[in-house]
Amino acid sequence: MGLEGNLVVLREEQEQDLLFLRRLRNDLETQAWSKTLPPDYTEVMYRKRYEEREFSYDRNDGRFIIEEKKTQERCGTTSYVWLEPRWSASIGIMVAKKFWGTGIAFDAQEVLLKFLFEELGLRVVRLYTHSGNQAAVKLAQKAGFKISGWQRKSIFKNGSLYDNLLMDLLREEYYDRHPEIQDQLPRLVENG
Ligand SMILES: CC(C)(COP(=O)(O)OP(=O)(O)OC[C@H]1O[C@@H](n2cnc3c(N)ncnc32)[C@H](O)[C@@H]1OP(=O)(O)O)[C@@H](O)C(=O)NCCC(=O)NCCS
Repeated sequence: MGLEGNLVVLREEQEQDLLFLRRLRNDLETQAWSKTLPPDYTEVMYRKRYEEREFSYDRNDGRFIIEEKKTQERCGTTSYVWLEPRWSASIGIMVAKKFWGTGIAFDAQEVLLKFLFEELGLRVVRLYTHSGNQAAVKLAQKAGFKISGWQRKSIFKNGSLYDNLLMDLLREEYYDRHPEIQDQLPRLVENG
């Protein structure tokens, strides 16, 4: 069993995805980062990143291609980084414009969250974005994320200043939104 949602599957990156990933990164609308990166990434850079990935049983990240189930078309990419085992990780997502507004992004995010909470037993999942990226903020809020850190006027993008946002989703909040899944881990007691 892989990672499967209603609309998408999340699968490993393959060699033939490198061009697609480069295109997403070099489009200022899809490149996602709060810090604008120069749109000059090459396929060679992506190949190097792909080939330098080492086999290991001790991983602290995961990187997936989002594929539409119906057509098997690539829609985007999603990942988690900075995994602290059984504690936390940060997620990111980037979807090709053709698939915006289709529900694909939300489904992919749900599949990744289920993996992080159900399989990895995390207590909190985080993400970083900015106040000018309302699609990202809304997408995260739809899954239950809350804004938990707010640095005013810290991001400059597209000629404007924005606030840097940290958003997070606690384990308890995730399971409260998913009564169809029972949390098998004890709830942590909050002190203060
Ligand atoms: C962020 C991203 C994945 C969202 O994908 P999407 O297909 O637009 O997601 P959805 O259609 O499910 O939209 C999510 C919510 O945001 C809202 N939304 C979308 N674009 C919006 C915009 N420009 N302004 C305000 N709200 C917006 C939608 O209405 C929806 O809310 P709703 O369900 O309450 O109506 C996509 O826009 C993307 O790839 N952006 C570039 C990469 C990026 O920013 N990644 C996130 C970095 S943290």
